[in-house]
Parts: sequence; structure tokens; C-alpha cells
Amino acid sequence: MKVAVIGTGYVGLTTAVSLAMNGHHVIGIDLVEAKIVKLRQGISPIYEPGLEEALRQVLAAGTLAFSTQLSEAKDADVFFVCVGTPEADDGTADLTYLYSAVAAIKEVHNSALQKRVVVIKSTVPVGTGDKVADLLDGCQELSVASNPEFLREGSALLDAIEPSRIVIGVSDPSTGEVMEQLYKGVNAPRVVTTRANAELIKYASNAFLATRISFMNELARLSTALGTDIATIAHGMGLDSRIGPEFLRAGVGYGGSCFPKDTIALLQLAAQNGISLSILEKVREVNATQPVWFLQQLQKLVPDCRGKRIAVLGLAFKPDTDDIREAPSLSILHELTEQGAAVFAYDPVAEDAVKQSFPNVTYTKTAEEALAGADAALLVTEWKECVQLDWERIRQSMAQPVLLDGRNAWPAQTVKQAGFTYIGVGKS
Ligand code: UDX
Repeated sequence: MKVAVIGTGYVGLTTAVSLAMNGHHVIGIDLVEAKIVKLRQGISPIYEPGLEEALRQVLAAGTLAFSTQLSEAKDADVFFVCVGTPEADDGTADLTYLYSAVAAIKEVHNSALQKRVVVIKSTVPVGTGDKVADLLDGCQELSVASNPEFLREGSALLDAIEPSRIVIGVSDPSTGEVMEQLYKGVNAPRVVTTRANAELIKYASNAFLATRISFMNELARLSTALGTDIATIAHGMGLDSRIGPEFLRAGVGYGGSCFPKDTIALLQLAAQNGISLSILEKVREVNATQPVWFLQQLQKLVPDCRGKRIAVLGLAFKPDTDDIREAPSLSILHELTEQGAAVFAYDPVAEDAVKQSFPNVTYTKTAEEALAGADAALLVTEWKECVQLDWERIRQSMAQPVLLDGRNAWPAQTVKQAGFTYIGVGKS
């Protein structure tokens, strides 16, 4: 099929590459010319394992091209809308980019062509797909499908090639058939439903995952007070198939481009409909206070950070990405620098993204460099470069052997045997 993908961010680019890998003829569209120039050369604007290699392969195979002009894709069978829906000042999703993409499709649409589908992949409030359908009402042979995306940063391409499920929201069976044809050969369960259901599945999934994390983070605070081990507790809970093992890892809190934005947007959507999602309010509150709680643990070992050298390992909101949006590292760097600590930070790829906001932090090229001479070390993102370390050597290089493990990823027994004082989240 001929496919146009509007927006070349995480969702758009991985969608475009994975569809091209499946043999569709895809054109990726983005207004930002510099991005298109790079993409045409096979350079990915985002750091994502495997994406650049796959991009180069489909470019070489001729199944993927890029343009700033949607008119170059005017004969597409399917238009994917993968533009950002950022958080507006009031917490609702800002749909400006989405509606301008829809207007652009309307402009290039030629009603003489066969049935064509506008697929909304961007995360949008319930009812948006129906509004778009109203806007396109006069456009013969153009229908609208909601097809939310569940990919995770760091494994985005894999998630796009082997999705956990394909959710398709349509208002007529023939649009569903086009979508089936598009995803032919992709082995994943299908949920074919209304557009509104599809839209809410996306928000509900992210809100529920965020809820699991905040629940475990709050429980970790209790676990610290009781002297129990949250990782063992999570393991014991996760063996119950009704609970499952995923997303039970306590830490310094969730970040990223989805959970923070989507939870507030869902709360706003609920409020607009006269419903209070009180559990979700608390989820956000616990997440906002988790870095604060974590730094209180540091205070137990280093009561006054002024002039102390503190190593912060990991800045991205999770490993395998250079994304720092809503990353817990930001509030941790802010608080430590406010307290007058000399902060030495290391991240394999996210340093540049943080630098501008925190010019007083010293950025190192390795974890070892950040740790040398430190009075305490904080693990904020569990990159393997920050986890797999020679603890005997580090014990000798640090000024004080104090480790605060914000991801419960350092080997507690090993480091204690090496002479460190170790505190994890919900474990000691
Ligand atoms: C998330 C959803 O997983 C994905 O389905 C959706 O499409 C977009 O949002 P992403 O934000 O890329 O994906 O990352 P994810 O792996 O879900 O992690 C989000 C945050 O939660 C990270 O900061 C991570 O460190 C944190 N997390 C995750 C925990 O603190 N504990 C866990 O057990 C799992």
C-alpha cells in the first residue's frame, strides 16, 4: 500500500520504518526541513537502538522516502497522523499540530481516488477521531481510524514490528478492512472497536502503568521504614498471574514524554466530564515527591551537601534513550545544585540535552570519572554503563563509599562486601 506518515518523531519515524520494512511504500512528512535532509541521508534525529540501521536499509530498498510536502504523497492509500500532542498550559492535550495535519490532508485529497483512510496514531483525547471525521465529512472516500501506538522509547522499533496488540477504532467495516490489509502479516492480537474506545484504551493503559509504578514507589517508602526488600516483595507479587511481573520496579519515579503528559490529560478529560479520577491524582503526587523522598535518603548519610562532591549517574528518563523530558534527574540536579553540592554527572547519550539547563554541573565522559573523589554517588538511570562497574576500584577512587541506588540496579551484596554504605529504594 502507499502510505504517508505525517510527523517524524518517535512514533512517526518508527511507524514509517516498520511499515516500509513490511513492504509498504512509505513517505515520511515533516515540516522541519533540516530533519528531512538528515533522514534522507539515513541519519536518525533521535537515539533509538536499531532504528538508524533499519532506516538505512529501507531507504536503500526504496520503500521509504521523506519530504516536507504532503502533496508528494497525495495518492497515498493511508495517511498516518503521528504529530505531537503536547501538554497545553491547562494540562489538556494541545491539538494544534493534529488539526493542521488534518487540514493538509483535506487539501491534497482527491476524491476521485479509491477509499483512503486517515489514521490517528497521536495520543488524543476521547472524541478527537470523531471530530476529525466531522471535519472531513465532505471528503468522499476519506474515512478516519484511531490506531493508538504503545511503543516504548529504547525499544521503539521492536515494539512497532512486534506490537503487544493492534487497537483499531473505526466507524465502518470497510475502514477496518483497509487497516487489516495495512497490518497484514503482523502477528499481534487485534482489538477492533469504536474510535472513542480506541482513544481511551491508550490513556487508560498509560495511566494504569503509571499507577503501578507510583503504588510500588509509595510501598517502597514503607519498605524502607520496615527494613524489608521491595524487589523481593515485587517478585513475590508478580508471580501471581493476576498481577504479573512488569512495572513493579520501585525507583526515583517515572518520566518521559508519555506518562506525565497523558496522566494529566486524562485527569483533565475526566474533569471536563464531571468525573474525578482521585487515584490518578495521587499517582502524580507520589511521582512528583519520589525524587524528594530519594534525596531525603541521601540526607541520612550526607546531612549537608554544601561543598560535597556528588556523582549522579544517568540523566535520561530511562536507559537506551537520549530523552530527558520529565526525567527525575532534572529535579535531582536542581535540588542538589540548590543545596550547594558540586555535582558530577554522567550519561552515555543525554548529556547535551541537560547541559543548557544545568551549566554548573560538571559532565564527565565515563561513570568512573564522575565517581572519582565523590562523597556520595546516586544512580538515577540504570544504563549498563552506570551499573556494570568495577566496585573494588571505585571504592578506592571515591572520597566516601556512599551509594544511593535510585533504580535498585546496583549489586547490593557485592558493593556492601566491597565496603560501601548502600541504600536502595525500599531496600537497604
Ligand atoms: C510508555 C509506555 O510504556 C508505552 O506503552 C507508551 O506508548 C509510551 O509511554 P516509555 O515512556 O517509552 O513508554 O517508557 P517506559 O518503559 O514505559 O517507562 C516509563 C518510565 O517509567 C521510565 O521513567 C521508567 O524508568 C519508569 N519505570 C518503568 C519505573 O520506574 N518502574 C517500572 O517498573 C517501569
